[in-house]
Amino acid sequence: MTTKTFDMLTVETGNGSALGMRARGFLADQKVDLCRKHPWLMRAATAVTRLRRRGETQLLGLEMAADPETQKISVRPTGLLAPLFRRQLDRLVQRINAYGRPIATHNDGFVYTLYQPPVPSTRMVNHFSRVLVQGRDLVRPTTCTLQVTTRCQLDCYHCSAARFKSAEREELTTDEWIGVVRQAEDLGVNNIVLTGGEPLLRKDIYDLIRAVNHDRANAAMFTNGLLLTDERVARLREAGLFSMMVSLDDVRPEKHDELRRVPDGFRKAVEGMRRALDGGLLVGISTYVGPEDVREGRAEQMIELARDIGVHEITIFDTVPTGKLLPLEDEQLLSEEDKQGLIELERKHNAREGNPHVITQAFINGPDGAGCFAGYIQFYMTAFGDVNPCDFTPLTFGNIRDESLAAIWERMLAHPAYCTRSDHCRMQDPEFRRKYIDGIPEDVLLPWPATGDLLGHAHCPQKCAAGHAACVG
Ligand SMILES: C[S@@+](CC[C@H](N)C(=O)[O-])C[C@H]1O[C@@H](n2cnc3c(N)ncnc32)[C@H](O)[C@@H]1O
Ligand code: SF4
Repeated sequence: MTTKTFDMLTVETGNGSALGMRARGFLADQKVDLCRKHPWLMRAATAVTRLRRRGETQLLGLEMAADPETQKISVRPTGLLAPLFRRQLDRLVQRINAYGRPIATHNDGFVYTLYQPPVPSTRMVNHFSRVLVQGRDLVRPTTCTLQVTTRCQLDCYHCSAARFKSAEREELTTDEWIGVVRQAEDLGVNNIVLTGGEPLLRKDIYDLIRAVNHDRANAAMFTNGLLLTDERVARLREAGLFSMMVSLDDVRPEKHDELRRVPDGFRKAVEGMRRALDGGLLVGISTYVGPEDVREGRAEQMIELARDIGVHEITIFDTVPTGKLLPLEDEQLLSEEDKQGLIELERKHNAREGNPHVITQAFINGPDGAGCFAGYIQFYMTAFGDVNPCDFTPLTFGNIRDESLAAIWERMLAHPAYCTRSDHCRMQDPEFRRKYIDGIPEDVLLPWPATGDLLGHAHCPQKCAAGHAACVG
């Protein structure tokens, strides 16, 4: 068992700074002004440090360990303020240990899901520190999905991204994406998911993975799996990719190939997963299910298949009425009963020994999970820089070529649809769709501007759809 130590807050006095002291450590490093945010803490820290007549005093440190035998996390606070944080840390560790069994180990930390940093890890402690110093006054995103390209070798029946494609707009350059990654990390994002299109079609994909500050965030990827050669797997791993989700749309190989319109696509995707596993990557399956898949047992068969292949996790999305499926009929969507069935499957399989860990959208975006992530803990960016609430919501709140990410995020939070939380996926909510989605003209390029004043912005997508009536004037 390896114990990791983290210096959370140390203050130094007598260094000639205006305040007569300087703070360092994870809490001081969160781009939150500690002196303004917690003036009592900083005054007390300076006084104590002076009284002790020492140049520097550690106020808080953490010793954290993941015990491979018991599969439990332990934490011990150190420093002058340790007694103040003991209870809070005990509660945090209890919550982590109750979450379930770890599905893998990564640099001596436990991985509980492919979407969260390992525990302990520098990026997990950075995230925890951010939450601690920031408080709850401003909700900040923890996950972003970046559509690094719209290009794809497939043309899937259900593709959520198909209507973002445009021959007239220019995809973000390598440098622009690196800037986006920095801004996302500064906003507190700890899970950066590269998606597409097919992200492996971007030649600079390894540079984009390398651009993620691995002390702050996971680099994850969604892929159709067709390009996963041994060489690419090795390069992805070397660049620091944390996890990859490979798409399988049906347990029946011929049905998967039909839905993805590609011969032999199922076999290639499964082989790609096996290569990625052999190459030491954390691998998940990403699938989506409709009512018949739940009722005819295929959702459960997909979990069994994930177990046979040996992947770490499976994410089961609902069929979301978006992209090519934007005009889907109600009966093609999951009913509440179907969702309950999926939640039962998730419980049943997560209680079993061994992998895969099962995540269902039905649970995680529902009332007993975290609720809708969109504009709450997540944003999505199209290949052209439009910032949307999630992968599946075709509304944009601004473009990164026009404004900072923080400004666009705040606009999203101020919008009537996103200023309160939702305990279900908004894109499956008939009321939300009636208000914000059904009015989007059928023939336009997506995403659609969420507020009228965006039409005046230089990179509003509707500006680029030449001749669109809403843009004129
Ligand atoms: C848009 S794809 C992009 C990455 C890659 N090309 C792939 O196919 O995995 C990301 C994930 O979203 C899922 N997805 C796409 N459209 C969807 C929809 N309408 N409902 C549910 N999931 C969807 C895909 O199946 C895939 O697992
Ligand atoms: S779902 Fe993925 S693989 Fe299929 S067309 Fe869309 S981007 Fe391409």
